[in-house]
Amino acid sequence: MVNKIGVVGLGYVGLPLSCAFASRSFKVIGLDTDLEKIELIKRGETPIYEEGLQDLLKRVLKEKTFKATSSYRELVEESEACFICVGTPSNPDGSVDLRYVREAVEMISEYLKRLDRYFLIVVRSTIPPSTTCNLVRKILDERSGKKLGEYGLCFNPEFLREGKALQDIFNPDRIIIGSMDERSGELLLEIYKKFHGDSMPPTLVTNPTNAELIKYASNVFLATKVSFINMISQICQRLPDADVRIVAEGIGMDKRIGREFLNAGLGWGGSCFPKDVKAFLRFGQELGLHLKLVESVIEINEAQIAEAVRLADNLVGGLNGKIISILGLAFKPGTDDVRESRSIQLIKELLKYNVRIKVHDPKSLEKVMSILGDKVTYCKTIEECLTDSDLCILATEWAEYKEINQEILKKYMRKPALLDCRRLYEPAQFKEIKFAAMGLGY
Ligand code: UGA
Repeated sequence: MVNKIGVVGLGYVGLPLSCAFASRSFKVIGLDTDLEKIELIKRGETPIYEEGLQDLLKRVLKEKTFKATSSYRELVEESEACFICVGTPSNPDGSVDLRYVREAVEMISEYLKRLDRYFLIVVRSTIPPSTTCNLVRKILDERSGKKLGEYGLCFNPEFLREGKALQDIFNPDRIIIGSMDERSGELLLEIYKKFHGDSMPPTLVTNPTNAELIKYASNVFLATKVSFINMISQICQRLPDADVRIVAEGIGMDKRIGREFLNAGLGWGGSCFPKDVKAFLRFGQELGLHLKLVESVIEINEAQIAEAVRLADNLVGGLNGKIISILGLAFKPGTDDVRESRSIQLIKELLKYNVRIKVHDPKSLEKVMSILGDKVTYCKTIEECLTDSDLCILATEWAEYKEINQEILKKYMRKPALLDCRRLYEPAQFKEIKFAAMGLGY
């Protein structure tokens, strides 16, 4: 039975995973090569915003079931199974940069070499199909001098949503285990049985390549669903009486389709969908396949930005010289992550016109400063952001923006107009001001 777990990479995936394991009968050692991050975590501060994480981290540090380190030696010596949760960013051509996975596996191999007991390596980072069987296994064999069987190896994808990471770790829809051999798979299954107890989620045990493909196919499918509804929204935009929200509701009532991921808007962003969809397209090319569906999914996503700019321009009778308030910068509510945020993409597009842009976000202002610098004005309050502007664009649907009504807009804005890119509001609430919503037929 595994009691001691190692986690490599204390980011959006690794830190919540470490704290979750440490809160349920495991001793966890988490490694990151970023020393500043380690110091922060040791003090009980989370380098990222994730619901409930700060409290859980403080708890597991106090209970001494979790410790952070930058030493691979400590990590391997003090754990029985190790989860690799490092980033897999994109190369300029869209393919996956496996540098951090390679580095982590090489470092683990160095200490695995000197270990005289079985050790399980579990890759959680998203990697192209066949990477575990080929690259990861090859490095382990060559660098550790050991053979599969002396160590265990699995690919075990994560399906965590940012902002809901802990919720998804404690209550996942499913667990997918891609094991290189029977013993590795059984051991990982035992870890999850111990973690979930009586509420073990549905589990599929297969080979690593299927598991790797399941991860990509899941994200590509979800992005396709969003692009599909955005395609319908473009149709609705051009039909006077059509409303994509009602259409989505009607489609979603079919159990085979489902209502989730049918919210039209600015499109999909974040650290996962854009990277994974592009990587999948590229992966297809390597197999000699032209994945036209995936290409269209990307094209539709890009087109939503142009559509938003067109609507904004119509709403204020030409963008030239206008002051625009942007509400929401994170790629979705509940996170401070701005990677591939559609809101920032929209701002970059709007900046091509002669406009002044004021921005607000409850969590990510600082992160955006390093991206947009002095090109925009940063506002700490919604009121400050709205003051004197000609157009308010709701770009990320944070719950606090729901409180905004036409009285507030009339009070602060120069010429109140609102473009709701995430369908947060009921159009009827804004009878006295110029209003448009993405996907709505006007
Ligand atoms: C996504 C997947 O949902 C997770 O299952 C997966 O584990 C994760 O990627 C990953 O690969 O690590 P996440 O990136 O946190 O999670 O974000 P989502 O909640 O899936 O949203 C992605 C984007 O789609 C956001 O920009 C969101 O605004 C957009 N979206 C989502 C829509 O525009 N409409 C929808 O109906 C749903």
